[in-house]
Formats: sequence, structure tokens, C-alpha cells
Amino acid sequence: MEYRYIKAYFYQKEPEFARLLEYRIRGWHENKEKGDAHFQAQRQSADASSLLGEKYFFKMMIEIAREMHEQTSVLSPNTASGKIKVLDVCMAPGGFTAAALEEHPRGELYAITLPKSMGGHQALVPMDKLRGLKELDITMLRELADGDEIPKTHPECANFRIEKPYKFHKFDLAFCDGMVLRTHKRATYREQTERLRLTTSQLIIAMTRVANGGTIALLQHKLDSWMPARIVCTFSRFSKVQVFKPQKKHASRSSFYMVAKYIDTDSEGFRECLKRLREDWWEATFGGEGGTGRCADGDDEDSVMRQINDSANTNAFRLGRPVWKIQADALAKTEYAGSE
Ligand SMILES: C[S@@+](CC[C@H](N)C(=O)[O-])C[C@H]1O[C@@H](n2cnc3c(N)ncnc32)[C@H](O)[C@@H]1O
Repeated sequence: MEYRYIKAYFYQKEPEFARLLEYRIRGWHENKEKGDAHFQAQRQSADASSLLGEKYFFKMMIEIAREMHEQTSVLSPNTASGKIKVLDVCMAPGGFTAAALEEHPRGELYAITLPKSMGGHQALVPMDKLRGLKELDITMLRELADGDEIPKTHPECANFRIEKPYKFHKFDLAFCDGMVLRTHKRATYREQTERLRLTTSQLIIAMTRVANGGTIALLQHKLDSWMPARIVCTFSRFSKVQVFKPQKKHASRSSFYMVAKYIDTDSEGFRECLKRLREDWWEATFGGEGGTGRCADGDDEDSVMRQINDSANTNAFRLGRPVWKIQADALAKTEYAGSE
């Protein structure tokens, strides 16, 4: 799906995005062969994970968390009790959790992660430092359906799990750094919808457990596409939104973090956002002709465009400028997309 209006809008209004789009066109279309070869090599090295590779990744995630903290103070959220309580929704290897523990040695850290047996990463954060660790596929929890019956016709109906991990806790900070893994063993009909299922699942879990005034940090890709743009606009209604991208790590990728602070869980905007995320998860999981999920990607681009145009959101997107600049600067130096 091409997000014609959203891209065109940013192309006109944001010089850094216009620069980035030109590199993307070069790397993804004009130099397609070189670009494809680069991404293929990148995928192969990501999939061939060794313990050494996992340790390097763990250290890198700690550094990303520290850099995010320097720019957004993400590790110093509001706390009701003075003792910080953190939920890491897609934790392994655990760099973010380790950085939170470094900052708050007496903090209470709880985590969820995809089991290694299903293709998840090895957890490297010391287990005795955690208050809890649940190993499960977070997109397969019954609670995401908010009381609705899981359709009996769904081929994996029996695999939706009944437990509600940490449901009765309130967290000052929730990390949602889940990334769809090629190593994750899952049914083929999930391929098109998995990114949307993972984003919505993480947010539903985080939003139903975050304390009033707390913080959620969410990994997203492409601020100029429908879902990230919609999430940034929507969260701006009930929290203070910042966007962050590490200067050096994954600089040429489109990934960035939304850090939403002072979340007002009592607000109408919060309730509406949660309801909409549940509908998106349901459609991505049970929608479509076969009842195994449909990607509603971009269905309401017009309404997202109206939200972007709303002056209340202008600031959130102004904060997006460094994200586009970092990626454009990094792509400029590549062989497949660059001009230097
Ligand atoms: C980028 S890594 C997270 C790194 C982590 N923030 C850190 O600091 O080390 C992405 C994580 O998402 C997890 N993940 C992906 N799909 C998942 C799912 N369906 N359920 C639970 N975790 C999932 C992966 O197992 C992996 O641990």
C-alpha cells in the first residue's frame, strides 16, 4: 500500500523527508539490484545468530536505551511510589531492561518475550534481577479480544492463550520494542498482517497496564506511513510525544521510537485509541475472506491526513525531522542509495 497523501504531504512540507525519499527511490527502485543484494546480506547476517552475535546485539540495545534516555529521559518516568516499575513487553535479549536496572538498581522489572523454541532471542539479562519473565507469543492472547469469543473457525483457535500476564500490575514505564522475526515459527497466513498484529498487541498490553501519568516507548518503522503517523497523532492527544532515532545504530533503516510520556489513562482520547487498536488487532487476526486476518493498512488514510493537518499534531512531526535527517544522512553514504 502506498500512502500517497501522507508521503506527498511530508514531501512538500519537510525538506529532510524530501531528501530521504529521493535516496529511497534511488536505493529501492533505480538501483534495485544493488539495494536487494544489500538487504539480502543484512537479512542473512541477522538470521545467523550466534551467542557472540546475541551478546553484541544485547550491548547495542543497552547503548540505544542510554541514548534514548539522554534525549527523552525515558528511564525517569513519573512514579507514584518513588520506586520504578517497568514492563518490557518484547524483552530479549534484554538490553533495555538491563539499562533500566542500571539506572534503577532497586527498580521492579517484569518482562515478556517470545520463547526460544518458537524462534525468539536468547534472554541475556540476569534472571535473578527480574521480578517476572513470561515466555509467550503476545499476539496470541485471548485478552486482546476484550471478552469477544475467538472464532471457532480460526485454524489456531485452540492456541489463543487464556492467561493475562501482569494484568493486575500498574507500570510506570512500558517498553514495546517488538520486531517481527523471520525466525519466528508461525502460520503463513500471518505473514502479511504480523507487523500490525505485533504493534497492536504490544500497545494493547502496555496501555492496559500503564499507570496514569506513565510512559510507553514503542518501536515503529516509517513515520511517513499510515499506522505510525496515526499512532503519533493519536497519542499526542493524551500524552507528551517525542520521537527518537539513535544517531549511529540502524541509522540507514526507517526504524524510530515513539516515547509517549505523562499518559492520561482517564482521557477519552486514551479510551478511543485503545478501542481502535483492539479493532485493528481483531481485523488483522480474524478479518478477510478466509477469517485469518486482513491488513487494514491505509484504509483510513484520509482521516490520518486530517489528523496530521491538525495544528495540534504539527509539533510531533516537527520532532520527526531529526529522524528523517539521520536516515537520509546514512543512506547518502551507501553504495545502493547514496550520492556521495
Ligand atoms: C528488537 S528485539 C528487542 C530487543 C530488546 N528491546 C532489548 O533491549 O534487548 C525484538 C524482540 O521482539 C520479540 N518478539 C517478536 N515477536 C514477538 C511475539 N509475537 N511475542 C513476543 N515477543 C516477540 C523478539 O523475540 C525479540 O525479543
